[in-house]
Amino acid sequence: MKPLAVIFDLDGVVTDTAHLHFLAWQRIAHEIGIAIDEQINEQLKGISRMGSLERILRSGGAEHRYSAQDKHRLAERKNAFYVASLQQLNPGSVLPGIAALLEELHRQDVRVGLASVSLNAPRILEALGLVEQFDFCADASRIQRSKPDPEIFIAACAGLGVAPANCIGIEDAQAGIESINASGMLSVGIGVQLLNADLLLPDTAQLNWPLLQTFWLTQHSVNAV
Ligand code: BG6
Ligand code: MG
Repeated sequence: MKPLAVIFDLDGVVTDTAHLHFLAWQRIAHEIGIAIDEQINEQLKGISRMGSLERILRSGGAEHRYSAQDKHRLAERKNAFYVASLQQLNPGSVLPGIAALLEELHRQDVRVGLASVSLNAPRILEALGLVEQFDFCADASRIQRSKPDPEIFIAACAGLGVAPANCIGIEDAQAGIESINASGMLSVGIGVQLLNADLLLPDTAQLNWPLLQTFWLTQHSVNAV
């Protein structure tokens, strides 16, 4: 008895781009006179580009100061900074434990999916040298409702041809854990502050196939009692 698929978030699970997002947003926020800190950044994890901008503007009481066109320009400028910073990514930027887990999942014939709301996901996987490791990547540009809505995890399951009840999802964001839970998959949280994850690990170095297998068995024997 094992999961048929494992579906990964990208930013903060496969590689540490969360900090690069923060630096790019910090630069934009500074330009428009808003100070943002790591605490606000925590709330931006898993949230779409425009959703993140809205939250930053709200945190500075500036949500009504900008037209839709201004917001579009700010989001594009942030993305330009962010994309420039992605040049530093290479296969060595994959977080500990992830490359070995991906290989083991393939050996075990467990399907591998990606559920990232980042429109930059394809170029990030390319830079990390991981394109071949994913059987299906949900297309963020086709997603109508961002995490915590389950849409993107459900889309990844559909693309893999596996029912959510047969999948594990892995996330570093609270919105992502809620998205996984609402999809009907089992959730693995990476981090110390996350609530409601079915399994919580402090970092990706703890992730491995035997652990996921035991977790799966435990959850299913609990449910069977
Ligand atoms: C998520 C990140 O993976 O992607 C968010 O956690 C980010 O912080 C979102 O805002 C959208 O990313 P992008 O690359 O499309 O701006
Ligand atoms: Mg993430």
